[in-house]
Amino acid sequence: MKVLIVGSGGREHAIVASVAKSSQVNKIYCAPGNAGIGQIAECVDIGAMEFEKLADFAEKNEIGLTIIGMDDPLVGGVVDVFEKRGLRVFGPRKNAAIIEGSKAFSKDLMKKYGIPTAAYENFTNPEEALAYLETAKMPIVLKADGLALGKGVLICNTLEEAKTGVRTLMLDKQFGDAGNTIVIEEFITGPEVSVLCYCDGTHIKPMTSAQDHKRAKDGDKGLNTGGMGTFSPTPFYTEDVKKFCEEKIYQPTMDAMKAEGRDFVGILFVGLMLTEDGPKVLEYNARFGDPEAQVVLPRMKNDVIEVMNACIDGKLDTVDLQFEDNAAVCVVLASDGYPEHYEKGKLITGFENFEGKEDYYVFHAGTKQTEEGIVTNGGRVLGVTAKGASLKEARKNAYEAVELIHFENKYMRTDIGKELV
Ligand code: AMP
Ligand code: GLY
Repeated sequence: MKVLIVGSGGREHAIVASVAKSSQVNKIYCAPGNAGIGQIAECVDIGAMEFEKLADFAEKNEIGLTIIGMDDPLVGGVVDVFEKRGLRVFGPRKNAAIIEGSKAFSKDLMKKYGIPTAAYENFTNPEEALAYLETAKMPIVLKADGLALGKGVLICNTLEEAKTGVRTLMLDKQFGDAGNTIVIEEFITGPEVSVLCYCDGTHIKPMTSAQDHKRAKDGDKGLNTGGMGTFSPTPFYTEDVKKFCEEKIYQPTMDAMKAEGRDFVGILFVGLMLTEDGPKVLEYNARFGDPEAQVVLPRMKNDVIEVMNACIDGKLDTVDLQFEDNAAVCVVLASDGYPEHYEKGKLITGFENFEGKEDYYVFHAGTKQTEEGIVTNGGRVLGVTAKGASLKEARKNAYEAVELIHFENKYMRTDIGKELV
């Protein structure tokens, strides 16, 4: 079977690597892909938002399955376009991807169906939002309703900061129309856990847990980024926590979406905070996490194509999802200055050190193939993942591995998974 993956980041590289292991697949395309993906798949020069062109390509090349990696095309309805043309595709339809596309929708869904989450109010009027803040408890959290590259969340310590935040989101429109509606949410605390789940509209199967590190600098300092590193599993996600989430969060979310006529098929990413009052949902995403996928997929034992097909066919209950009994750590190599100002076009060397090395992966995020070789082409450049028998060993392996890759301006956090080993 031929498979097409849509996207161009480290997450899509991890999906492509996983698909490449499937015995059912003999050809992989990726649109638009990147330099690393190009080594195991054929990159196709079609943008992720060019739905009709993607569908034309799938039709013409007899693609047996298209996997959508990114949020924007999902929220924009790419799956509906494919389905209308009778093409097989993995991901939620537009009416289900809204669970990520609108934070106000997801908060209202949780409230209506009693799924644990932080207390909140939605606002479409800036004056009302400002008035509400006057009596609210600080710190407080402001969230742009729509997609904002993971950057539309402001944690405000003082009333002044919160008021400025409302103006930035709703009046200055820093994130465009994503800030037309905002969610003002209670500030909660506790360890964060990401759980990605396969869903077939009725059944939901959670994968192994992971933890992201969103801040740019060691010790969770600095600006929020797309993710500076991950590890899997996280020891905070105990059997008790898992059981609670399965009973009170995952299945109720599936059932709620079905009850709303929005059957969710694809990957549901549940961002949890383990508070003193129990696990609460921070956010839902409608796709694999990035860089969570880079530590979760390498540990999955199943044939990913079989699992995705079971989701599309509503037969996920027949799948026995299995993960290796080990750990993985992914350290993101970024361009110094990310997420603000950074330079691109620096030659990357050292890839040959990973050839034939099992249990090590170099996932490309922002890279470009040039005549001189592969160069940096973004803030997050590579995700270096290593496995190990324990988190401690995986961490040691990952941090040894990052030393084998060189480029000018290389920057990384040195504390991915550190507090837990
Ligand atoms: P989100 O995009 O909703 O996951 O938010 C990004 C980050 O902001 C999360 O990973 C948390 O670290 C933080 N955050 C979001 N909501 C809250 C909240 N209600 N209380 C405290 N921190 C939060
Ligand atoms: N790592 C967080 C995300 O993918 O949204």
